[in-house]
Amino acid sequence: MRMPGPFVVALLAAGSITSATLAAAAISAPAPPNRQVYTSIKELMESIIDPSADVLWQAVGTVVDNKGFHDALPKTPEDWRAVRAAAVRMVEGSNLLMMPGRAAAPAGTRSEVPGVELEPGEIAALMAKNRNSFDGFALALQQVALQALRASDAKNSALLMDAGGQMEEVCEGCHQAFWYPYAGAPQAAGPPRASKR
Ligand code: HEC
Repeated sequence: MRMPGPFVVALLAAGSITSATLAAAAISAPAPPNRQVYTSIKELMESIIDPSADVLWQAVGTVVDNKGFHDALPKTPEDWRAVRAAAVRMVEGSNLLMMPGRAAAPAGTRSEVPGVELEPGEIAALMAKNRNSFDGFALALQQVALQALRASDAKNSALLMDAGGQMEEVCEGCHQAFWYPYAGAPQAAGPPRASKR
């Protein structure tokens, strides 16, 4: 058994905690699992996936200023470092998307465009039903992010541009399958069940 650390010893001396309490806590506390899910798909999109995609796309976008159009390719070591950091977030963010047990959105969230964008419960049901497909999109995202990572290490803007183009298709593919499946269909105004009754 490990000896209690100085902090615990101090607590014991102060009488705020007894060694019996410590022993009881050690027995009753469940072993923390290695991996836990704390946030939703929506939060991953907002905090990791979308901001990182913006960095990658803007790195190879076109900027317009008072001197005309320019390719905004990464030039300085700092530019490339920012691209690399975004690629790392995207590579590992894809792993987070694939972790089981993640809700679609925080409790109480409602669709912002009802009838076009599914409610979180509907997204979760689709994810449960087609988990392999969802993970396949996440894996595809990881592959293009790995290409962006290689591009940043090689300082190869053509490779980065290619990754950016493919990435857009992967985002769109997963969104059409799991977020707004009716948006591309003829009845784009809403799912069939909304127009019947
Ligand atoms: C594996 C599937 C998947 C991939 C890949 C994916 N998304 Fe998403 N994304 C979703 C789902 C599902 C939602 C809807 C979440 C919800 O509203 O509950 C979503 C929602 C979003 C949102 C809206 C977040 C909000 O505030 O409601 C943005 C922005 C977004 N994704 C950006 C992206 C971008 C950019 C990419 C590609 C770089 C991408 N996503 C790739 C599944 C995916």
